[in-house]
Amino acid sequence: MAISPPDIVSPALYAQPDLLHERMAVYRRDAPVAWVEQEPYRPFWAVTRHGLIAEVERQYSTFINEPRQNLIPREVEDRTIAMMGKRTAAVRTIIDMDEPDHRKYRGVTQQWFLGPGVARFQGRVEAICTHWIDRMQALGGECDFAVDIAKHVPLSVIMTILGLPEEDSAFVLRCTQQLFGASDPDMQDGAGDYGVTVFHELMGYLTRLVEQRRREPTEDLASVIANGLVDGAPMAMLETLSYLLIATTAGHETTASAMAGGLLALLQNPDQMRKAREQPAVWDSTGADEVVRWVTPIRHMMRTATTDYELGGQKIRAGDGLCLFYLSANRDEEVFADPFRFDLERASGRHLAFGIGNHFCLGRLLALTEIRALFKQLLARLDHIELAGEARPAQSNFIGGLKNLPVRYRFN
Ligand code: HEM
Repeated sequence: MAISPPDIVSPALYAQPDLLHERMAVYRRDAPVAWVEQEPYRPFWAVTRHGLIAEVERQYSTFINEPRQNLIPREVEDRTIAMMGKRTAAVRTIIDMDEPDHRKYRGVTQQWFLGPGVARFQGRVEAICTHWIDRMQALGGECDFAVDIAKHVPLSVIMTILGLPEEDSAFVLRCTQQLFGASDPDMQDGAGDYGVTVFHELMGYLTRLVEQRRREPTEDLASVIANGLVDGAPMAMLETLSYLLIATTAGHETTASAMAGGLLALLQNPDQMRKAREQPAVWDSTGADEVVRWVTPIRHMMRTATTDYELGGQKIRAGDGLCLFYLSANRDEEVFADPFRFDLERASGRHLAFGIGNHFCLGRLLALTEIRALFKQLLARLDHIELAGEARPAQSNFIGGLKNLPVRYRFN
């Protein structure tokens, strides 16, 4: 069935979360697999129920990542293909890959992300949080938590794990914001090319990094990637650069969004703020995952069907695109009791904010470590905190969160 309104994809709508959630609930109830024809995008199936999204993601041969991972205006997709031949000619990250390649390339860093790599950096993550909370204290009694603090913590962590110099932070921050916030007018660089210019700038920077780490490998993640082997041979430059690109960008805007959105949720739910302060252990159990469910920084991912398939009563044809709305899945009333209640003690491990299946987020452990460390330290040091203005959400239907979160506070 083709749905005209209600619109759930216009970037501007993502700055009105209540309206967006209201509409997503209608899709979940009445049309959980709906054919959407809405410019500037190619038509696609909107999948909004938790169970149906999991069904798609678990069948990774039937629903593949090539060629579309997220909603991109048709004109931009066409221009890229005209320039490059195919989309993955310029960048081929592990998110772009399907099996069997995906598993081989993921294997290059999986051990690092899931094992000793993250554990070794735990103390550094805590020190980075302390540094930025000190900065918040130094700013006096007011700041924009999204801009002054949340944006910087995950960036400092990524710079540290990749072994990049702190003075390059501003450059990396600008690149990731423009690449992932390309649909928000405040995030654009003036080139008006959906991030093509900034993409080339970042790739040049990463090329120099690869060359350096191949000459002089160290213990950092950049060295693991630059010297990674697939089928016993060094990865080609395209895949190596793309790997670094995803490692640099995937964990930054996402984790920052969770931090700012998490603080707003605490400010709007005084009972949860009290719990978070009085029972800090809640962060080690369920709290950080509930923050990620609540915010769902990646609003959707896409898949393409390789064969005809019946999903939720709809006939999907080979070649059709499916847009998996995590934001909707994480408010699915069939899975989460009272889904619009922010509850730090919710056993919300089933949320889909990190995806599910073979592309399940590699950085989950790192992201949760950062969120725990930040909130535990911040709330222990604050005597009082309140909103000092309007929280402004980004206009992005892909990766998004708060652009601004003005707060007023007093330290102990
Ligand atoms: C709250 C923060 C984060 C969220 C919400 C998040 C979410 C996601 C999602 C939804 C996917 C794709 C799943 C799919 O297509 O099925 C993904 C993949 C990925 N994420 Fe994260 N992520 C976060 C933090 C991080 C961090 C900190 C890193 C590392 C620095 C990271 C690295 C990756 C990588 C490398 C992939 C690709 C995995 C693959 O294709 O096999 N993420 N993430």
